[in-house]
Amino acid sequence: MATGEATTTAGIHAPEGTRRDFLYIATGTVAAVGAAAVLVPLIAQMNPDASTLAAGGPVDLDVGKIAPGQQVVIRWRERPIFVFHRTPETLQTLQDPKLLSQLSDPNSREIQQPPYATNATRSIKPEFGVLVGICTHLGCIPMFYPQPNASTPVTNWLGGYFCPCHGSKYDPAGRVFSGVPAPYNLPVPPYTFLSDTTIRVGENPSGSTWDFGSIRQL
Ligand code: FES
Repeated sequence: MATGEATTTAGIHAPEGTRRDFLYIATGTVAAVGAAAVLVPLIAQMNPDASTLAAGGPVDLDVGKIAPGQQVVIRWRERPIFVFHRTPETLQTLQDPKLLSQLSDPNSREIQQPPYATNATRSIKPEFGVLVGICTHLGCIPMFYPQPNASTPVTNWLGGYFCPCHGSKYDPAGRVFSGVPAPYNLPVPPYTFLSDTTIRVGENPSGSTWDFGSIRQL
């Protein structure tokens, strides 16, 4: 069930290949059960071929099936990859001076992303975020809280990712807040768009030879 799986990933260290949550959709931690059931066929359609996974090769995903505000999690090289369809409101939040002043590395100076995602949204297309879902502190899987909230998961929440293991906070682009245990932004994996709506995680856009092994910290 999507909601339960999204919730139970918190506190579990990654990578791990045996969990049932290989692929799930999180619409936030309070998503309705009914909504989760409706999303099951979509999950099946996006499930990559088993041999591709075994080889650790690239994984394709049709992001056109992800509704604005939803996130899909796929697995690439035993790591959870968050693919978030950001809303216009979320994109606006990413430029909010109130948010930027609280971030440790708002301009992505540290090499935690490829050059083609070293920009204000840390992505190729602003509306689709692609992140390695592993906290840069000690490797827990951060939880998805896309909506601003006065008290949940912490006071004055602006939306993004929260790691409950030791309280690290990341914005919707995976940029880490100052004063939390995690030292770096969430990594961005190599990925490219094969078409307007299909991404391939594990492969750079043509012309780029960026090496995922060059990131500062996973
Ligand atoms: S592992 Fe995320 S805050 Fe410690």
